Parts: sequence; C-alpha cells; structure tokens
Amino acid sequence: MSNQNNIPEDHILVIFGATGDLTKRKLMPALFELEVLRMLPEKFAILGIGRSSISDNDFRDHSNKALKNAFTKVKDQKKIKGFLDRLFYLQADTQNEESYIALREKLQLLRKQNSMQHFNLIFYLSTPPSLYEVIPRLLAKATLNDESEGWKRIIIEKPFGYDLQSAIQLNDSLKKSWEENQVYRIDHYLGKETVQNVLVTRFSNGIFEPLWNRNFIHHVEITSAENFGVGNRAGYYDQSGALRDMVQNHLLHLVGLIAMEPPASMDADAIRNETVKVLQSLRPLSEKNVAENTIRGQYTASTIKGKKVNAYRSEDGVSADSQTETYAALKFYIDNWRWGGVPFYIRTGKHLPTRVTEAVIHFKPTPHYLFAQQEGCESCNQLIIRIQPDEGILLKFGMKTPGVGFNVQNVSMDFHYNDLSDVRIPDAYERLLLDAMIGDSTLYARIDAVFAAWKFIQPVLDAWKNNASIPLHGYPAGTWGPDIADDLIEEANMKWRYPCAVLTGDENFCAL
Ligand code: BG6
Repeated sequence: MSNQNNIPEDHILVIFGATGDLTKRKLMPALFELEVLRMLPEKFAILGIGRSSISDNDFRDHSNKALKNAFTKVKDQKKIKGFLDRLFYLQADTQNEESYIALREKLQLLRKQNSMQHFNLIFYLSTPPSLYEVIPRLLAKATLNDESEGWKRIIIEKPFGYDLQSAIQLNDSLKKSWEENQVYRIDHYLGKETVQNVLVTRFSNGIFEPLWNRNFIHHVEITSAENFGVGNRAGYYDQSGALRDMVQNHLLHLVGLIAMEPPASMDADAIRNETVKVLQSLRPLSEKNVAENTIRGQYTASTIKGKKVNAYRSEDGVSADSQTETYAALKFYIDNWRWGGVPFYIRTGKHLPTRVTEAVIHFKPTPHYLFAQQEGCESCNQLIIRIQPDEGILLKFGMKTPGVGFNVQNVSMDFHYNDLSDVRIPDAYERLLLDAMIGDSTLYARIDAVFAAWKFIQPVLDAWKNNASIPLHGYPAGTWGPDIADDLIEEANMKWRYPCAVLTGDENFCAL
C-alpha cells in the first residue's frame, strides 16, 4: 500500500479526453486536492489532449470552471492559480500516428522547461473505450513506452473490454508494447476509503475474522443503488447495462475484498493474489441456471416526489425497444473452504429509492432458541459495512428489553466516519491518481482478476442476450427494482435489507 507521505517523483501527467466529463468532474478536482495537500512533486505538469482546438489558457479556464463546480467551499485563489499554471493543452487526433510525434515533442519541451531530470510520464486514458487499443499502440510506436530515461505508466478507465473475448484481445494488444507493471486498470471503487476499510476491519481486529466463514455466516448481501437514471450517458450505457457497468468490475472487486483470505503482507501482489483467488473460485453459472439465479430489470415511467420521471426507453439516446438492463441482481456461491454453501446476493440499479452502497454480513442464528422473539429473527445479527453515504459500520444484535421476563429487542451499534470531525474522506480518484504516481498498483485491477470477473459474468451476458424466456422486468423508477428480486433470497424470514441514506435506517424507519 502507498505511504501517504510519499511524494511522487517529478513527472508529466498526460490526460487523453481532457475536455471530457470525467476529467471535469473527477480528475481535475482530485488533482487540485493533491496540490493543496502538497502531494504533487515540485516539477510536475499536466498535459491535456483533446480534439478541440483550444489554447493552454482556454484549457485553464475550462479547468477552473470544473473546480468551481466541484467544490462547494470557495478555494484559495492563489492555490488555484498555482495549480492552473501547471496545465497545458495539445490538440491531437488520437487515431493519427503523426499526433504522437507532436506529443513527444511537446513532452520533451515540457520536460526541459521544468528542468526534469527524468522523463517520467503517466498517460491517463479518459476516453471512449474504443480508443483503449489504439492510443497505447501509437504511444509505443512513438517510443513513449520506453523507460530508458524514466518510467512510463498508462492508466486505463473501465470497462476493460466489452466481454471476455474483447478483454483478452485488448490485453493481447497492450502486451505487445507495455509490461503488466506499466498498466494501471482503474476501478474507482477500490479507491474508496470505505472499500479499503473492509481490509482494515477484517484484518486489524481479532473479533471478526474467527466468525468470517461458512460456520457462522448465513449469507452475504451487497447493494449498490442509485436514485437517478442514465442522464446524458445513454450512448455508453445503452451498450453496457448494469451488469457490465457495475457488477463485472466494482461489485465483484468488492466481493473479492470481503471474501479473500488474509494476505501475507500489505504488498500489492500479496493482496491481489488473494482477491483473484476469490474471483477464480466463483461457481460458474451455466446458461441454464442463469434464469434461476439472476434478475434483470429496466425502469419504467413513474412519479417521484411529485415529479414525473421518464421510462428508460424514453431517455435521450435510448432506443424505444432497448433491452438494456438498468437493474441486475445475482445469487452465486464461492466454491472454497471458507465460503462453501454460503450464498452471496448482489444487486445494483438506477432509479432506485436512494443512493447507497453497502455490504451486509448476515450471521447465522443461535443453534437453539431460548427466547420467544428469536423465532422469525433468523437474520438478526448483521454487520453492515456502509460504503456510501453516511460511511460507517453498523452491528445488529439482540438485547434484553428492560422489565419483567426476557424480551429480546434487536439493537444497533454504529460507527459513522463523520463522527471523526477532523477527518476528510478523500475522493477515490485522489487516492488512485496518487498511487499511480508513486507506482503502487495495489488498488488497481490486475489482468487475471479482470479475466476472472469476465469469465464469471460471460454466461449471464450470453443467456440474457440469447434466451428470450429470461424476462426483462419493468420496475417503476423510484422503487427497489422488480418485486420478483425478493424471491432470489429464498430462505424463510430472510429478505434484502432496504437501506436508507442514513446508515441506521431501514424499511421500518427511513428518512430518505
Ligand atoms: C461508474 C458507472 O463506474 O460508477 C456509473 O459507470 C455509476 O454508471 C458510477 O453511476 C457509480 O460510482 P459511485 O462512486 O458514484 O458509486
């Protein structure tokens, strides 16, 4: 893991897709925060690459606006100016070989102007996935992968491939000119503080790990819900759907951290060796049992808090007969000694009632019931790991209700990150950019993990595409997805948790 006091070596960060949405919303604010925290090297420059013909100053204005939109509190103008002065822009056609010669010259010039001893470069591909093959290839052709004068790293956004076959192809093409240790495949979920805290909760405490297995855990549930629709991303999303967009990457990586064996050390490979074993142990779903173990849905028109909400099929850029799922729920098993027989349930969706991501560990009930209230409360011991919002942890257990007899009441013990008033939760991109700058790939996806996740998902993609008898259920926007998803959790007295924005809320009390 990276040491937070590590200042990266001098380098130039090249952002392809510099005027795009991700750069505006995530990369620029994250880089500015790193500047404020003095985590950027003294000799450092950001070179934005885009198709628009704009000047360095236009790019600085554009980035200044992005910073204004990203922060609610007004930032120190002097710091903003200092940061913007490090930004440069180059117009380029990324499909054209010549552009890379111009790029190399521009980088050499920036190196000289900044008196950088080494020619260290990071290339961030914040572009449509269709360019993930061509940009690295042409960079290499222009020798911008050559490490004789300094390291060269490449950061690739998700999705890495469209399915297993295309992920293999993309990797084959990358391998021709880039070493695995030069490639950083970003999955921003791994950069979230609360996702990393899964490791700390599990491995810095002696009290959870002895229970963390099939002997004591009944099932594990992971929810990642969003209370908004596809917005202006239909061009991408309609080709992708919830399974590719959220499950194949973010949620399966989260499963990896929740289910992994303790690593031998906190070294990048030690951790990634363990998470990949989890993904490789996922029991394959055959096309036949996809129908019983998965649910897909698509939001339909509705009225939320008095406001009319479009059906997915009426969103801008979505075809009127789109079969793309905006909701996915899966049940699966991890076939290893720790988890044999423990079902895992994951679900994600757009236009659900609230924005929340959490994992719920449901412990088994006691082997014998001494108290009447235990009947029907088979899932009363729960550990809820809240990734966002109201980040924290909640433990549920039974306590005696004061008074005569032995009445049991389920109570909660909760920790909220915002109780630590002096602690700021950094954005995932801040952490991940810094890690790439210092060469720590722990929180980036290794290729074997990417393949293992695609391998697991592929039969679901195939069955959903080829088997028309697997329904695409409509669900009104603003609800918890298709009702039938409740039946995925088959056991008596067990159901999904219906979380709220606040960690302690559920279907019984919810201030959404
Ligand atoms: C992205 C998906 O990777 O993650 C989006 O493409 C999704 O569709 C987003 O909204 C969720 O990220 P977060 O950090 O807001 O949970």
